[in-house]
Amino acid sequence: MTAPLLEVADLTCEFRDRGRTVHALNGVSLTVGAGETVGLVGESGCGKSTLARSIVRLLVPTSGRLLFDGQDYTRWGERRLRRLRKDVQIVFQDPMTALNPSWTVRRLLLEPLVLHRVGEPERRLSQVLDEVELPASVLGRRPGQLSGGQRQRVAIARAIAARPRFVVLDEPTASVDMSIRASLLRLLRKLQREEGLTYLFISHDLSTVRHICDRLLVMYLGRVVEEGRTESVFDRPAHVYTRVLLSAIPVPDPAVRRRRLPILGEPPSPTAIPTGCPFRPRCQMAAGECERPQPFYEVGPGHRAACRLARVEPSGEAGTPA
Ligand SMILES: Nc1ncnc2c1ncn2[C@@H]1O[C@H](COP(=O)(O)OP(=O)(O)OP(=O)(O)O)[C@@H](O)[C@H]1O
Ligand SMILES: [Mg+2]
Repeated sequence: MTAPLLEVADLTCEFRDRGRTVHALNGVSLTVGAGETVGLVGESGCGKSTLARSIVRLLVPTSGRLLFDGQDYTRWGERRLRRLRKDVQIVFQDPMTALNPSWTVRRLLLEPLVLHRVGEPERRLSQVLDEVELPASVLGRRPGQLSGGQRQRVAIARAIAARPRFVVLDEPTASVDMSIRASLLRLLRKLQREEGLTYLFISHDLSTVRHICDRLLVMYLGRVVEEGRTESVFDRPAHVYTRVLLSAIPVPDPAVRRRRLPILGEPPSPTAIPTGCPFRPRCQMAAGECERPQPFYEVGPGHRAACRLARVEPSGEAGTPA
């Protein structure tokens, strides 16, 4: 991997909700190298969007560190953040709520250009419209007058208008139907090639993630529990949670029937984080040692998982924590 463009170190984020503390992030660490597409997966409520919003600093994390290009911006104020926001952008799941409904597309696209003082904004405006493959005829329309796919193209155009280096994509295709999904993904990949973008791609759709991500992060209850090259994680999922997650993907070939692994109990509550391995209460393989915090074990080059079953035991002895 190249030198990290983004580094997240031991990030925690807590919310107060009706007198209770929601531990949305519980010590997330990750790096994203320049030019990479890193996928982030995990079930609903595991903290993906909270992490996304922390990375673009729409949220101030409770503790931990955020570094972009080596600079610690965890606690930067709005003035300094303006500089960061030229480089670090986000595309949300639902453009209907992300875009101001009373603005025209023209105004929506000019805003980031003016804010980030991009030279010749009119020229960049028509260029970015071309880049996201929208006709000039949309410029006078408002979000409500566009199709779902066009709306998301406007959101993407806004994100890339000032030529950022890093874009967080928080389920960018979840609000559109299958036929549009493929064309949006093609567009995102084209933009990445042409603009040299780096992506953190959040998705529920594991088939998509497998198709477009170089590396994968698996999150559970506010923590990364496994990470590695996409093929490596799909071929040799090491954390029991990852195995469960991957076993739920439908297999197109009926001859290759995969056994769907059971997952015990209810989805966890981020108001009561279990000690030790966070997946322990739902894990079929849980043992006494899982009550203690699990270190990461190296499964292969760049592939590691925080699960006792990821430990390589060549001689029946315990392996070395990574
Ligand atoms: N502002 C907030 N106040 C209180 N709790 C919050 C807030 N934002 C998020 N949460 C809680 O934090 C946890 C993580 O939420 P988050 O939206 O990050 O999950 P997610 O992984 O993005 O889920 P999904 O896949 O459904 O989008 C959830 O339990 C959520 O209810
Ligand atoms: Mg989310």
